[in-house]
Amino acid sequence: MTKQPFYITTAISYVNAPPHIGHAYEVIGADVMARFKRLDGFDVYFLTGTDEHGQKVQKMAQSKDKTPQAFCDEIAATFQDMADYLNISNDQFIRTTQESHKETSRSVWEKLTAAGDIYLNKYAGWYSVRDEAYYGEDEMTTREDGKKICTATGTEVEWIEEESYFFKLSAYEQKLLDLYESQPDFIQPSFRRNEVTSFVKQGLKDLSISRTSFDWGIKVPGDEKHVMYVWVDALINYISALGYPADKDGLMKKYWPCDVHLIGKDIVRFHAVYWPAILMSLGLPLPKRVFGHGFLLTGGNKMSKSVGNVISPRALVDKFGADSSRYALMREVTFGQDGDISWPLMTARINAELANNIGNLVQRTLSQINKNCDGKVPQPGILEDVDHALLTHTGQEMLINVRGEFEKLQFSRALEEIVRAANAANAYIDEQAPWTLKKTDPARMQTVLYVLAETIRNLGLILQPFVPVAAYKILDQVGVAPDQRDFVYIGAQHALQPATPLPKPEGVFPRIVEEEAEAAQEKTA
Ligand code: MSP
Repeated sequence: MTKQPFYITTAISYVNAPPHIGHAYEVIGADVMARFKRLDGFDVYFLTGTDEHGQKVQKMAQSKDKTPQAFCDEIAATFQDMADYLNISNDQFIRTTQESHKETSRSVWEKLTAAGDIYLNKYAGWYSVRDEAYYGEDEMTTREDGKKICTATGTEVEWIEEESYFFKLSAYEQKLLDLYESQPDFIQPSFRRNEVTSFVKQGLKDLSISRTSFDWGIKVPGDEKHVMYVWVDALINYISALGYPADKDGLMKKYWPCDVHLIGKDIVRFHAVYWPAILMSLGLPLPKRVFGHGFLLTGGNKMSKSVGNVISPRALVDKFGADSSRYALMREVTFGQDGDISWPLMTARINAELANNIGNLVQRTLSQINKNCDGKVPQPGILEDVDHALLTHTGQEMLINVRGEFEKLQFSRALEEIVRAANAANAYIDEQAPWTLKKTDPARMQTVLYVLAETIRNLGLILQPFVPVAAYKILDQVGVAPDQRDFVYIGAQHALQPATPLPKPEGVFPRIVEEEAEAAQEKTA
């Protein structure tokens, strides 16, 4: 049976500085989704990478006395490193300074020109280097010190006047509005769709897409004093990664259009307005979904170096490990909304749900099986209603509910479903008290422990996208073969074989000691 393709991307990150926790949050979200879809039977292609051109990166390289390329190589490596220590399962890591990407970008430029959508004129207006974005008068305010800033992002703008190529964005106004109308899921969450629709309804101006006042970018074919606007080059990564236009490996044919562009709320406009217009001009099908997640905040504030509230992804993983860090970030904040995180919040979450709830369930069940069932999968007798109820809840029912949440990228709610299932299993073990049955009814004890082992198998399977290493350990401990770990194995048809020998149980989710978390926070600060 051929598997249905599923293409998911993150934004590509600027390499002006090493990754912060917002980058980690996004790539973890995409990874959780990619892993879920793979386990659910899809042929997944997962892309992430770095955005390396533009004035911001060039300026930063200059300030460090490095060539832009050497600087990019250094910082891009820190993003690749993050993908490793967060256990990210991307199929490709694209860098926009790689030759194949530059070739695709030039070819896209030529196609846009051939379509009559590019013309030369002069740009005079405001530009924010920090945001690498052009702003209109209505999008700016004046700060106390008299400097003009973008109202939404608070970054300083500068006046630029230079010759520039323009993309005829205005020609796509109605087509874009038709797109939002006919494909209501194109922009998610839905409140972001309303923001974009009203922006487009105000009228679109043509977009300046080249610069001449610096040179760190992809040269415009046929007019090399211009470099492409970094956002045009950046958006193209989603198709250059698939080998557009030559498509030598057939990746475009297989994976385009993209299923989800996962990005932050600050760059929805680029993905939901400029990108579909460029694709329309190229005659390519449009992505199915652009999902704009919220921002991670600490104490209600945006994380920033000057405020000193930055949590680095490396420090997070050093403290909690990759699995628990992934869990805490996906659980703590509703995907799509802004959310507060802190060391104490994450510690409390990990301890309550991973250590005390799920970890404890696994630990106490497996140690009783080890002691009382000869270290083998127990032999169940006839199941009672309570047993069936737990198995149904933690089997197909849990899968269906979790899948429903994944369709909406509601990772925190998916975890809530899983935690609820683990709670039900903990209530069952307390109620059935297998430690008492050991003396009063050993056959029933075997049944109860079997039902619990089976529940743990289902939980181990469904936890894989979030905590891949720990879930693997759980599955090893209940004797699940590595080739029986897809979601088709969730539920009764593939239940554990009684008498299968099991390894000696080991704890999977260690408790985090509060003082240690505080010490780690101080160290980072
Ligand atoms: N280079 C552009 C994206 C080009 S995509 C064709 C860019 N880079 S970025 O490094 O500034 O941001 C990368 C991603 O991280 C964006 O989706 C952005 O929204 C996200 N985040 C940056 N800070 C964040 C938080 N504090 N919280 C959550 N995500 C945030 O934009």
